[in-house]
Amino acid sequence: MSDMKILVLHGPNLNLLGSREPEIYGHDTLADIDARLGSLGAELGVAVEARQSNHEGELVTWVQQAGAEGFRAVIINAGAYTHTSVALRDALAAGGLPVIEVHLSNIYKREEFRRTSLISDVAVGQIAGFGPQSYLLALRAAAEFGSAMK
Ligand code: DQA
Repeated sequence: MSDMKILVLHGPNLNLLGSREPEIYGHDTLADIDARLGSLGAELGVAVEARQSNHEGELVTWVQQAGAEGFRAVIINAGAYTHTSVALRDALAAGGLPVIEVHLSNIYKREEFRRTSLISDVAVGQIAGFGPQSYLLALRAAAEFGSAMK
């Protein structure tokens, strides 16, 4: 059993999953997704801690503290902040931890404004378009690449 701890961050409006535009985001709630992440983490031997916030500054603070809290990687669905937040991008760049960017929907298939991610170029990679599976694929990548990721 590895002692690797992985932080999963969910940004604004992701607390509404299940009822929010289900034709785009599906019917699973955030609690369903977090439960699946926890089970997969147990299977893979990594500890997963998931947090959600609608507040940009709170997400920035969590990213800043992640290294000191012992996390080895950050999986983040920054929601709309993906497209707008220089502050969150700067925190991810400064943090020094490997970042995996996740989206439920394929952001390149939607409105033009969603096609720009301020996070992608400070992330190891991005997984988008697979619904809740996007998070599970990201967790597999984090567990597999672990501290080898930069
Ligand atoms: C999202 C895509 C974003 O454009 C949107 O603002 C979200 C969710 C996704 O998971 O598909 O809130 O990050």
